[in-house]
Amino acid sequence: MAQLQSDTDTTLAEKSALLNMPKHVAIIMDGNGRWAKKKGKIRTFGHRAGVESVRAAVRYARKNAIQSLTLFAFSSENWKRPDEEVSVLMDLFNLVLNSEAKRLNKNGVRLKVLGDVSRFDRKLVDKIKRAEEMTASNQDLVLNIAANYGGRWDIVNAAKQLMSKVSEGELDIAAVDETEFDKYMSTQGLPELDLLIRTGGEHRISNFLLWQCAYAELYFTDVLWPDFDEQAFALAVKDFNVRQRRFGLIGEQVETAEIES
Ligand code: IPE
Ligand code: IPE
Ligand code: MG
Repeated sequence: MAQLQSDTDTTLAEKSALLNMPKHVAIIMDGNGRWAKKKGKIRTFGHRAGVESVRAAVRYARKNAIQSLTLFAFSSENWKRPDEEVSVLMDLFNLVLNSEAKRLNKNGVRLKVLGDVSRFDRKLVDKIKRAEEMTASNQDLVLNIAANYGGRWDIVNAAKQLMSKVSEGELDIAAVDETEFDKYMSTQGLPELDLLIRTGGEHRISNFLLWQCAYAELYFTDVLWPDFDEQAFALAVKDFNVRQRRFGLIGEQVETAEIES
């Protein structure tokens, strides 16, 4: 599919609906270490190179009127990596916030960090807060960076908030359904997850958006994250464009609904 460019935002949004574009895409950005190793470099060289792919993914999402892009940058399990690698990843997160926050703001991108940020260094937490506040009113694209994020953490965190509301008498337990529960997930307010991409060749979720994946289309590619450019993103979206999402219905029901709408 040709990339949509040069039109106004409204036209882009209309076109994306027509072309069956995903509103919310999430990416497990995997393969940095192996990419570096293939080049005879240390793993962290791959993490640094991966920053350019993040820029490319944001560019692609903006050009194609994707409303929400969620990138898995650091999992709750990644703390178990060697100290040196964890420390480089934290430094990189700091650096990228310094260099990109203003540019994202200028480009109408709203930045959100999903995950338990309480484990991060105070300075980093402040920086995250400032970037989130600065970009809070931007409407073109929501860029969610999942950092110290775990899908199970997200569900437990939501359950805890719900339980506290119930115990304080602010919520009736009988009123807790999927819609109510969803209000406490870190992705609250974002469109439903349409497409989950994993680079780096592994076919697993690695504790990413477990609740949100319920009806997401999954796309796996062997491309290593530092090689994932706008073209590679376009291929994933092209694959999504032609899939039939049935949500439990049968194909004929979906086709009839499409004709009628
Ligand atoms: C993904 O790349 C980045 C993070 C998990 C932070 P990896 O570092 O997992 O790279 P591989 O999978 O070892 O190649
Ligand atoms: C998933 O990649 C986490 C991120 C991309 C941030 P991992 O490399 O940590 O996943 P596993 O360990 O191969 O499952
Ligand atoms: Mg990996």
